[in-house]
Amino acid sequence: MMRIINSFLLVCLATICIGQSNGGMWLPNLLAELNEEEMQSLGMQISAQDIYDVNTGSLKDAIVHFGGFCTGEVISAQGLVLTNHHCGYGQIQSHSTVEDNYLDDGFWAMDRAEELPNPGLYVKFINKIEDVTAYATNGVTDDMSLEARNEKISENLKIFKEKVSLGEFEELEVKAFYAGNQYYAFYTISYPDVRLVGAPPSSIGKFGADTDNWVWPRHTGDFSLFRIYADKNNNPAAYSEDNVPYTPKHYLPINISGAEEGDFTMVFGFPGRTNEYLPASAVAQTAKVVDPARVAMRDVALKVMDKYMRSDEATKIKYASKFASIANYWKKWIGEMQGLERSKAVAKKSAYEQDFQSRLETNQEWLTKYGTLLAELNETYAQLQPYAEVNAYHSELTGRNTLMLNVAYYMDRLANLYETDGPEAYESFKGRLLNYLQGQYKNYDEEVEAEVFAALINLYFEKVPGKFLDQELMPIIGKTKEQANAFAKALYKSSQLTNFEQLEVILALPAEEAIAAIQTDEMLKFYQKLNNPFKTTVEPYYKKYNDRAIDLQRTYMEAQLEVFSDKRFFPDANSTMRVTYGQVKGYYPKDAVYYGTHTYLDGVMEKYVPGDYEFDVPTKLIHLHNKKDYGDYAAENGKLPVNFIASNHTTGGNSGSPAIDANGNLIGLNFDRAWEGTMSDINYDPAICRNIMVDARYILFIIDKYAGAEHLIKEMTLVK
Ligand code: ARG
Ligand code: GLU
Repeated sequence: MMRIINSFLLVCLATICIGQSNGGMWLPNLLAELNEEEMQSLGMQISAQDIYDVNTGSLKDAIVHFGGFCTGEVISAQGLVLTNHHCGYGQIQSHSTVEDNYLDDGFWAMDRAEELPNPGLYVKFINKIEDVTAYATNGVTDDMSLEARNEKISENLKIFKEKVSLGEFEELEVKAFYAGNQYYAFYTISYPDVRLVGAPPSSIGKFGADTDNWVWPRHTGDFSLFRIYADKNNNPAAYSEDNVPYTPKHYLPINISGAEEGDFTMVFGFPGRTNEYLPASAVAQTAKVVDPARVAMRDVALKVMDKYMRSDEATKIKYASKFASIANYWKKWIGEMQGLERSKAVAKKSAYEQDFQSRLETNQEWLTKYGTLLAELNETYAQLQPYAEVNAYHSELTGRNTLMLNVAYYMDRLANLYETDGPEAYESFKGRLLNYLQGQYKNYDEEVEAEVFAALINLYFEKVPGKFLDQELMPIIGKTKEQANAFAKALYKSSQLTNFEQLEVILALPAEEAIAAIQTDEMLKFYQKLNNPFKTTVEPYYKKYNDRAIDLQRTYMEAQLEVFSDKRFFPDANSTMRVTYGQVKGYYPKDAVYYGTHTYLDGVMEKYVPGDYEFDVPTKLIHLHNKKDYGDYAAENGKLPVNFIASNHTTGGNSGSPAIDANGNLIGLNFDRAWEGTMSDINYDPAICRNIMVDARYILFIIDKYAGAEHLIKEMTLVK
């Protein structure tokens, strides 16, 4: 008997080991086959079919892709949707005015009539997921070039899409999995009338802001509420006063008993992008070359912004959102570099490659097909490296860090579009562009930006090898800070693009005159000078080697699936619906320091800095804390839980994803990861990778006790 138990335990532990040591973001339709057993061994009480079922309402029917960039979940029979505050931020901001500042004060619709429509926002449900690999890869051969292969696949998929019969309002998306080795079709249905129902003030929803971002222990009430509206037949419909709350196929009950260390949890949502199966050489490149370049550029941009934001209140308001968005990935990349180093990711990948190579040796067919694969990958990454580095500097320079180079980039595109696609394409792009840029210019300050620009071009000219730079610009820029500043100031003075009204006047001219004005603008001339050497000496080689790496990676993925057939592989995230699971779990961030699983309202008060823009606390919340007026939402220890962590493998896009307990109830709302484990996009390590969630009890407490929106609690189903 003992022996039987032992060997059972061993098998069981081995499976847990595999799953937990790899993390994983799994396809909901494959759980029964791949994960159900392990999930149940970790404590899950429901079945894979309760999670994903195409015939009757299942958990997946409560999960939505929120606006295409976040996740949300339905939590009432009247289409109430829960997501993060930072996911609804744009909508909350767009309804805010100086008098009614919902970002500062929060917003709570006290009845349906007060719920606010959001043009452009939609939520998307997944009706069905289907393996279409055979259709997609029909007639594809190993000797095809990447381009020929992709062309053949799109042709196949076009035919497939024409053949498929879709339900009314249903749409079809096909995506590549396992680096292009498999294809899955998603039958989706989108609802375009999504209204804002509630949001806490930023002092709750964004408590800790950038200082606490990516950090545990955390105390943020990062949630907001929306409602899906449909027509009278419960079908998708554009906003109309006649629309009614949507009736879901399933909604999540909320468990107000919470979860404790060791309890099963899963997170259901739309993770954006991971790279878990790269060779060691690629991981080293990310950690040593690409991340450092991106971080260095953002370092200097953020320093300048911070200086101005600290000295002037109006600038702080103007730049808060831009700063937060630049700082978000800046901070993540720093964490990622450190985490890759600390978890010895490169050495781990190398050991894995040795294992791979020695398995090849046991099989002549494998050896013929894959014998030189790793060598080719390594060579390709070596060839890519100098271009990848310059590309990283260049995209940080011309991307989001300065508005002017971004505007110049778009103007250049607009002018080219007139040449290549004609007046109609020009006009339509111009319209969309003006629309987009209007918002961008609102948060633009010439003095701040010219200094950011100077700092960035200075660093660019310092770091990028001379052979990739414009020879005329070289003596002008990149010598001293003062020189770069003077150059930037003069450039910003002479350009017409620094002012939105001027830009509108130019673009209102007949197309050819407008293009002539744009092309003679000093900013555009500078942009082209900067960009031309990049376009000729970097971009083509970057593309060449990067395409080769993508092509080889597909084969490497295929080889890994074949050679390690005893292992389970989850496909890298690609913004499709996934389930990840784990347990509520603390961790050791460093030697002798242990981080517990939950934070409490007491901890909010410990961090409280009156009047501070990151750590202020609303008076009413202080009163509720003083009176310990927590309603039904306190934990057994009498304290009010705020955030908690678990070993679920999540990434960007999982924001707003529900944390679900063993019985299929909502216990939390995912919104971040812990600093020490942000390398999980490349190398998940179960010892320190943790996702961070708002405890459902804090969300209910804020809605009920803080906002007095009991009517919303009444439409939910609470369980203990
Ligand atoms: N780090 C979280 C996520 O990637 C939250 C971001 C929003 N919060 C912030 N302070 N920028 O996206
Ligand atoms: N905050 C992230 C998002 O916006 C989720 C956290 C993560 O990257 O893990 O999707």
